[in-house]
Amino acid sequence: MRIAVVRETREGEARVALVPELVGRLTALGYDVDLEPGAGRRALITDEEYVDAGAGIDDEAVANADVVLSVQPLAPDAVRRLRVGAATISFLPTAQELSLVADLRDVGATAFAMELVPRISRAQAMDALSSQALVAGYRCAVVAAGMLRRFFPLNMTAAGTVPPAEVVVLGAGVAGLQAIATARRLGAVVKAYDVRPAAAEEIRSMGAQAIDLELPALEGAGGYAREMTQERAARQMELLAPYVAAADALITTAAVPGRTAPLLVSAAMVEAMRPGSVVVDLAAESGGNVEGVVAGEVVRIGNAQVWGGRNVAAQMPGPASRLYAQNVVNLVALMTADGVFAPDLDDEIVAGSCVTRGRRILHEPTRLLVEGPVP
Ligand code: NAI
Repeated sequence: MRIAVVRETREGEARVALVPELVGRLTALGYDVDLEPGAGRRALITDEEYVDAGAGIDDEAVANADVVLSVQPLAPDAVRRLRVGAATISFLPTAQELSLVADLRDVGATAFAMELVPRISRAQAMDALSSQALVAGYRCAVVAAGMLRRFFPLNMTAAGTVPPAEVVVLGAGVAGLQAIATARRLGAVVKAYDVRPAAAEEIRSMGAQAIDLELPALEGAGGYAREMTQERAARQMELLAPYVAAADALITTAAVPGRTAPLLVSAAMVEAMRPGSVVVDLAAESGGNVEGVVAGEVVRIGNAQVWGGRNVAAQMPGPASRLYAQNVVNLVALMTADGVFAPDLDDEIVAGSCVTRGRRILHEPTRLLVEGPVP
């Protein structure tokens, strides 16, 4: 059976779904592996490295494949080139890709969405949301450190003492915790807040201070946050305002699955920050945690420079690709039996991540959005 790896075409996407080190794992499972020419170029991986690892380079890789791997959802023309019954594995934010999901259904593809891999212990090695959040969280902290025109660490020198920077992190999930850990390693004093009670202990374990606003916890299904009511949002802003005003760098990473990002910081709160302050908003693409943020740009609000994240994991394409490829190869291995790609839909991970199969949309929330209620 053949696996194809796509050359990503979406703007800003520099990652690739397979790295040379992992070609051997797929060939050992019984697959032939082909990549579209230049697939790894933007992650600084040459076609020769893939060939040396045992893969082929083929313009027609997608049309000949049983399984197609990519980071971003396939382009519509690639969907049209799929073999009937071929499988695709990629990020596929279904609610934003309804027409693509309909196309995948219509061509009879078996499509898997990496963001739908259930977050259970057995699936941790396939959890691409976490692996990419780790990269993005690290990147946010180094962007903040790079933009801030002062030291993160305390410096005690013969010429005098330079105090450390104060960093505030809002949202302490996978990305936020990595931002905290990175800012701490650079020596900043870090304070962090999250609505989930379990986060406080994790924040402290990273060497940061957990901000306690004495508000009720907001924990929903599966250990995720719930959406805030308007009153709660207003009260949270009021209580966070002094922490934001005192910060040299503010990093926000808050998200609620399936919703636009919660607005945590008003423009007035940013305006109260000191001259030279920096704000890094990882949630900019999904609406932003900070009022006025623009994804992919740096804007000035009051005295602060506000950086809006856009496909942040792709800004470190080498390590992000390596981690993503590990997740994808682990998922392929789970769905391979005796050298054949044979997804077992009785498996919770396989069923949970499968969006379309046999000209049907299996992911019910997406099916409802595309096809409406069954009459
Ligand atoms: P996420 O990207 O959906 O959200 C980021 C963070 O924002 C979360 O910690 C959330 O609580 C926080 N947040 C939401 N609304 C907020 C608000 N109004 N104010 C402040 N913070 C707010 O979450 P992520 O990073 O994908 O994971 C969150 C949690 O999911 C983890 O900490 C863990 O409990 C669970 N998880 C479990 C995994 C597993 O079991 N395999 C793997 C990864 C995560």
